[in-house]
Amino acid sequence: MTPTLIASKSPAQTATGSAPRVDLYAPIHKALRSFMSDTLLRVGRIDVADIDEMQCTLAQCDELLALCESHVHHENHFMHPAIEARQPSGSVRIAHEHEEHLQHIGELRDELATLRAAPRQARAALALRLYRHLALFVAANLQHMHIEETAHNAALWAHYSDAELMQLHGRLMASIDPREHLLVGRWMLPALTPDERAAVVRGMQAETPPEALMGLLAHIRPHLDDKAWTQLSQATLTHPS
Ligand SMILES: [Fe+2]
Repeated sequence: MTPTLIASKSPAQTATGSAPRVDLYAPIHKALRSFMSDTLLRVGRIDVADIDEMQCTLAQCDELLALCESHVHHENHFMHPAIEARQPSGSVRIAHEHEEHLQHIGELRDELATLRAAPRQARAALALRLYRHLALFVAANLQHMHIEETAHNAALWAHYSDAELMQLHGRLMASIDPREHLLVGRWMLPALTPDERAAVVRGMQAETPPEALMGLLAHIRPHLDDKAWTQLSQATLTHPS
């Protein structure tokens, strides 16, 4: 069984107050923002004279684009039908942007292939072009994710209970393969606040076999500093599920 990354709770801005609601977007979007930012910075400082380092950076770009593509499909197949079922046309704008994202991902893949195949003297210009176009892709995604976390969450919170949202989340999680769970965990957990991180791990403790959870945490440990690791250990040990 694979470790399952759970949703977080976010304060909902509703007419009835600000009771925390299940937020299906916030944790995965923090993971994506972190992954996108790190990858963009790496491309910006790429050393095209060092073929091994360049290939490593481009491999991270491949991994990012694959995750972004998968994320679009998850939202198209699970989130948008849920919104449309109770708020017709509620996901139209974002669905259109998803089509643009997939086209953009294809163009970036072409640029990656061109850079990989380029002779040494052409690489610097191609790497700069990739950096700028990846930056535009990241910029579009930052704007896009904000709409999802505000307008889409408002629609979901207006029409679904937290229990229904957790059922939706469970179906989405079950569709994700183990490798993607590990990749998302690597970027998500370090990107969360200490309280959010502890809540996610406590949620996993409740539904994940110990050996699978230990494997995920070992995978993530190098990406947490000592303070964050100590906080997480104390929070999850003192609040066993
Ligand atoms: Fe999206």
